[in-house]
Amino acid sequence: MSYNWIDADKFSFNSFLLMDRWIIRMICNEYAGWGDFCDNLGIALAYNPSVSWYFAHKSPESKPSLEQMIAAAPRNLAPHDVRMAEVFVIHAMETFVVYAYPEMMNQNCDYIYDWDNRLLLELADFTDKIVLDVGSGTGRLAFAAAEKAKRVYASEPTDMLREYMRDRIKRENIHNVVVVDGMIEQIPYEANTFDIVMSGHVVGDNYDLELAELSRVVKNGGYIIDCIGEDNRKRKPDDELIKRGFESFYHVSKSGGDIYRYRKQVRK
Ligand SMILES: C[S@@+](CC[C@H](N)C(=O)[O-])C[C@H]1O[C@@H](n2cnc3c(N)ncnc32)[C@H](O)[C@@H]1O
Repeated sequence: MSYNWIDADKFSFNSFLLMDRWIIRMICNEYAGWGDFCDNLGIALAYNPSVSWYFAHKSPESKPSLEQMIAAAPRNLAPHDVRMAEVFVIHAMETFVVYAYPEMMNQNCDYIYDWDNRLLLELADFTDKIVLDVGSGTGRLAFAAAEKAKRVYASEPTDMLREYMRDRIKRENIHNVVVVDGMIEQIPYEANTFDIVMSGHVVGDNYDLELAELSRVVKNGGYIIDCIGEDNRKRKPDDELIKRGFESFYHVSKSGGDIYRYRKQVRK
């Protein structure tokens, strides 16, 4: 699915040198069966030895598929054909490419730039709470919660995004946001640590595992919140969340999207 958040033509293939191991692993393995994607990735990597070296060393588990793709790439291609392959891959991977340019992510991604903090703060009383935001991105939810919370832990597996949030914390002298690494599948905290555990655009690949982790780290009586941003997508309610006891809150976004936010109070 293309969101057209970026003009791929304007991006260097070196953008991939800014990516984390988990992203390289997904690019090289999970999209391997994707139509023309493998062919184009093979060409782009074969003609960008620094990027293929970086991929192989940063994510050794991806080496076999990398080598296979590179071996299949035609030799002696004209620079124009190589660039076409690079642009194809950059466009196809735009949701990862934007993570390398957090400021651009804030400017180009509608779910962030159209966002209003009140949409989160009305879902629970954040006053003096200890909050975890899983997959914080540029901190859309974390910085909103920090307006009221005692402390917000912004957990984010992408290095560029962690550093972006740390820069903002320093620049704006924010004292109650702590940026940490972490994935939703294995949240690096003890059970029953947080009053509120929240995320946006993260839950959905494996509901049972993800919600079990979110439930584990929230205190008895605390809340799990799933709060996507403002975009123009026409959605249906998330039956998987509703089936698991979440309340849903519907509104139409500024750009006409059907937006559902979710909340569940956890009883242990
Ligand atoms: C679409 S962005 C949303 C960012 C932010 N939550 C928001 O709504 O503005 C998805 C974020 O989740 C992070 N992410 C991706 N897979 C993840 C996982 N398995 N666990 C935790 N975070 C993940 C990405 O690095 C990215 O920052």
